[in-house]
Amino acid sequence: MPPVTLARFLIEAERNNHVISADLRFLVEVVSRACKAISIAIGKGGLADVLGSAGSDNVQGEAQKKLDVISNDILLEANEWGGHLAAMASEEMEAPHLIPHRYPKGEFLLVFDPLDGSSNIDVNISVGTIFSVLRCPEGVEAVDEKVFLQPGTQQVCAGFAVYGPTTLLVLTFGDGVKCFTLDREFGHFVLTQDNMRIPEETKEFAINMSNARFWEPPVQRYVDELLAGKTGPRGQDFNMRWVASMVADVFRILTRGGIFMYPLDSKMKDQGGKLRLMYEANPMAMIVEQAGGLATTGRERILDIQPTKLHQRVPVILGSKHEVERVTAYHRD
Ligand code: AHG
Ligand code: MN
Ligand code: MN
Repeated sequence: MPPVTLARFLIEAERNNHVISADLRFLVEVVSRACKAISIAIGKGGLADVLGSAGSDNVQGEAQKKLDVISNDILLEANEWGGHLAAMASEEMEAPHLIPHRYPKGEFLLVFDPLDGSSNIDVNISVGTIFSVLRCPEGVEAVDEKVFLQPGTQQVCAGFAVYGPTTLLVLTFGDGVKCFTLDREFGHFVLTQDNMRIPEETKEFAINMSNARFWEPPVQRYVDELLAGKTGPRGQDFNMRWVASMVADVFRILTRGGIFMYPLDSKMKDQGGKLRLMYEANPMAMIVEQAGGLATTGRERILDIQPTKLHQRVPVILGSKHEVERVTAYHRD
């Protein structure tokens, strides 16, 4: 059987199963092309003028890297002309990006984190792109921030790319999780995992331990129990990994299980967490649930949250089912 390219997979999904429409197929093709372009830009590294700071801050008050800006521009330019979108929104832009009048408009909204893990760019560690697709509510005359404020359960597609030793694209349309690998010689993505499943049990956790003194008691308790290992209440040793690129940590969990936490802590209480709901937590939560895992804030299911702002932040606890259930139960105690 010849390799199944992304193009073929999408056409068959449209033709046979009616999982997706022609417009959604086109949207995913365009996003995948943009990810390819971002992968090429990142791959140039020190050979081109792409590393280092852009000298500006984004709406979150975070210093932008040149590649944050380059990746954002690549996604905007790729997606504005095709007629498949009503608007886009990004981590790197305060307000939604409307489709210029010279182009037709479509039914979808695209929200993205153009470059996730940007603190890792300059040190040659995996980074990625995260995206979420929503439907623009019918009858909307003027598109503004409000049309984006839909719970994650409304996502019609979610995905992320990892620019690591290989460039990967992980996708869900709500019927399982597929992984495609970029074939650099042919220049296309090829289906390499048809049905990613997160093992329910795990001995691996991911959290930034330097924040331990700021965590809430349920997370302190949970991590203390993991650290106590064989002689503690869990009766087994646990291992820790923290890449500081959510895309890489989530991909590892999709592959061999684990739990990822960026919980609420006392230094970020006012902002509600570190990770952004619309373009980090929601797409990752949809993918993780579709792979048999769970994603909560500790208090509620991430996909059920009704967003109030485009750049809203939330605590994130996701991964192997039994571990996420346990931390969430500790929050209830
Ligand atoms: P971004 O680069 O898009 O701002 O996101 C970085 C996020 C996420 O990828 C990662 O898990 C986390 O921030 C790392 O945070 P710390 O540096 O606090 O560990
Ligand atoms: Mn990010
Ligand atoms: Mn980012």
